[in-house]
Amino acid sequence: MSQISVSAPGKCILFGEHAVVYGQPAVAVALDQRITVRLQPSQTGTWLLDGNRLNMSRNPHISGLIQKLWPANMGAPPLSIHIQGNIPRSSGLGSSAALSVALAGALRLARGRWVTKQNSSEPNDWAEGFGSQIDSTNAYDSSTGFWSQKPTSQLFHLTGKHAVNDDENAILAHSVEAAAQNGRASPIDSSTCSHGEIVVISDNIEPELTHFYQRNLTTPEGDVTWQIHGIEVDNQSDDVYLVIGNTGINAPTGKQVAKVAKLLQRQPEKIEVINTIGKIARRGINALMSGDYDTVGRTMSENQLMLKSIGVSSPELEELIKAAMPSSLGAKLTGAGGGGCMVALTRNPVLTSDAIELAGGRTLISKLGCRGLTIETSDIDTIWTKS
Ligand code: MEV
Repeated sequence: MSQISVSAPGKCILFGEHAVVYGQPAVAVALDQRITVRLQPSQTGTWLLDGNRLNMSRNPHISGLIQKLWPANMGAPPLSIHIQGNIPRSSGLGSSAALSVALAGALRLARGRWVTKQNSSEPNDWAEGFGSQIDSTNAYDSSTGFWSQKPTSQLFHLTGKHAVNDDENAILAHSVEAAAQNGRASPIDSSTCSHGEIVVISDNIEPELTHFYQRNLTTPEGDVTWQIHGIEVDNQSDDVYLVIGNTGINAPTGKQVAKVAKLLQRQPEKIEVINTIGKIARRGINALMSGDYDTVGRTMSENQLMLKSIGVSSPELEELIKAAMPSSLGAKLTGAGGGGCMVALTRNPVLTSDAIELAGGRTLISKLGCRGLTIETSDIDTIWTKS
């Protein structure tokens, strides 16, 4: 049967997790590990997930995206969704962001996009959609309407890869992540899984980096603005790898983010640690840009000390970090912590991986950066089109 299939990579944060929620800089790389979402029309008249009836309340990321991109009240028919991949869940490697990005891309591909100029995929010519260039779109608001601009003139329908846009996938994934994390989510996971390669988030526009867009979010602590960039890194001359060690302990991001928020309420002076993580991340960005991986590694280890001091490390993570250090340039937890994964930067991936496995971790090896959202197959034009 005809189908649409779209994939997105997992991500690993090198610097700045948790502090990025409060507007500090952070760096993440897309991993070789991916999630693929396959869509087909449902033959049963109900939504299906991997062959079973889709439980909307147990799958908030999926139902949030369906609400925004596939509204039943406008006649969008139920679909059958299949998810496949090798990103471990609830382990800090961006599995929910990768799923959200891939599903947002697949749903957009399945309906195409209405534009105001023939054959134009420029965001300024979109008649509907979610993107940071369209001021009237507030993707974080779950009641946001379907049309972002009231259609005033003749519209044209764009299909295929030109209808899919990295910014839209990232903004939609961020919106459902924010909803799942009680309004506290940075755009680091969603942007990295959508754009791929290496993504830098900063409180300023960084002139030496490629600026993608700005994101704003009203969190329980106030309004936060992030500038999202891509970074070109020359690691051809230096054979460095990431070895990820999974503790096997599930640690939902929302809980860990709430734990830090509580700590800051109880001990407001801890904001100094958040600011220090920001300074460390900035040093890490400079080292990455100049290809100085010894400093990148050392800076990762300094970042770990700060993460430990805000209570998001765990004995299991510390064990794996200790095992990795002798063969690595640096190591730290990655993602929300409390369990989940650590990451080591190394020129000896096999040695580092063996050491982590001996200490009880399950490992993955990845290059630094990988392609972002990718359309794998699309053998139907569209499944549904609102006209
Ligand atoms: C989770 O991968 C990273 C955190 O900083 C949360 C976020 O940025 O939304 C812990």
